[in-house]
Amino acid sequence: MSSNRLPGQPYIAYHGDELFVEEANLSALAQQFGTPLFVYSKASMLAALAAYQRGFVGRQVQICYALKANSTLGVIQLFAQAGCGFDVVSLGELTRVLAAGGQASRIIFSGVGKTRAEMRAALQAGIGCFNVESEAELEVLNEVALSLGRQAPVSIRVNPNVDPQTHPYISTGLKGNKFGIAHERVVQTYQHAAALPGLSIQGIDCHIGSQITQEAPYLDAMERLLDLVQAIEATGVPIHHIDLGGGLGIDYNGETPPEAEQLWHKLLAKLDARGFGKRSLMIEPGRSLVGNAGMCVTEVLYLKPGEQKNFLIVDAAMNDLPRPAMYQAYHRIVPVKARSAPSETWEVVGPICESGDWIGHERDLSVQQGDLLAVLSAGAYCMSMASNYNTRNRAAEVLVDGAQTHLIRERESYADQMRLEHLTVATDAQKR
Ligand code: LLP
Repeated sequence: MSSNRLPGQPYIAYHGDELFVEEANLSALAQQFGTPLFVYSKASMLAALAAYQRGFVGRQVQICYALKANSTLGVIQLFAQAGCGFDVVSLGELTRVLAAGGQASRIIFSGVGKTRAEMRAALQAGIGCFNVESEAELEVLNEVALSLGRQAPVSIRVNPNVDPQTHPYISTGLKGNKFGIAHERVVQTYQHAAALPGLSIQGIDCHIGSQITQEAPYLDAMERLLDLVQAIEATGVPIHHIDLGGGLGIDYNGETPPEAEQLWHKLLAKLDARGFGKRSLMIEPGRSLVGNAGMCVTEVLYLKPGEQKNFLIVDAAMNDLPRPAMYQAYHRIVPVKARSAPSETWEVVGPICESGDWIGHERDLSVQQGDLLAVLSAGAYCMSMASNYNTRNRAAEVLVDGAQTHLIRERESYADQMRLEHLTVATDAQKR
């Protein structure tokens, strides 16, 4: 049987005309678990992690998986078992990490709007570091730590004013973004923080954006961060670790992001050249660890050819795959069973009552009603951003490990969705 791998997807391939994730046949998975169905390759996630690990051999580096990309417990557990720490942005995410067996001391807590309750819970859990994003937050964290008789480990997120050349909604390190402390105010902020008794300065961090596919923004950000470390340390405040924020972009549609290993060789060479070679490092990759490891399998409900456009209506929608509607994002769409008939051009859309509910524009596909399609590169920022819009149940998720499959999230039910709601008066049916 011939085997044919897909671009950018080392663990997804056609064997004959059937699409497989590792050794699992996708048609069989869809039959067993229904659609829409998210399917992830464990080997693909671990291979993506290994690319970072290879780049860091011999260095003190903590890789903190940013679980906003995919916060399903089974995925968190996989990275915890592989030795990762975690970047969380809410008490909810922190709770998930602990529930999946992650170590509190390897958690860093990012985000511009941490509440006092979140700070208190994170301190009590014993997390590794808070990435603080404003001067006002420093004051509050100091107060909360003192009220518990503790010191909060702190790193300050700086805004290096570097253009990551990505979509504006996921660009975060420019002046005018809500994130981090402006470059000019960083040294004085560190001096102030060092004088607050409830804080213990650990590091410095930045995050310039997501889906970055070029090297230059990282190298520029590192340069600026090192300038700041020098300036801060010159005032007598030691910086123990440098955290470079999120990870690399991925290949959605032929993008060619740098290889993690190669990029890190260059970044580490810069560190060495400036005399920071022994410094501890942290990174917070999300998308690049899970994005290309996942896909969403969806069934073609109807073909609706039209005068101007042909619509292919599938059972996945913007509530399952929000990235096209939100960022005009591109996801490859391929048949789960290849057909030999000539292809036609389709607008691939979901059942939601909005014109913004599209998954792919102008896709050449040979399909019939009832066929299955796989929406690729859907491991990151899909399920974690899924909603119940139109009272649609969130999809099930399966983790494939060789020929083994683990159902890591059951399909939601309507009862699950309505569980926390209350009527104001009993219905007639309830009264009877
Ligand atoms: N660290 C911080 C502080 C972040 O804000 C983010 C992502 C990351 C790490 C992880 O970045 P990554 O390695 O995944 O690039 N929903 C958008 C992406 C939003 C990213 C937000 N922050 C999307 O679907 O493209």
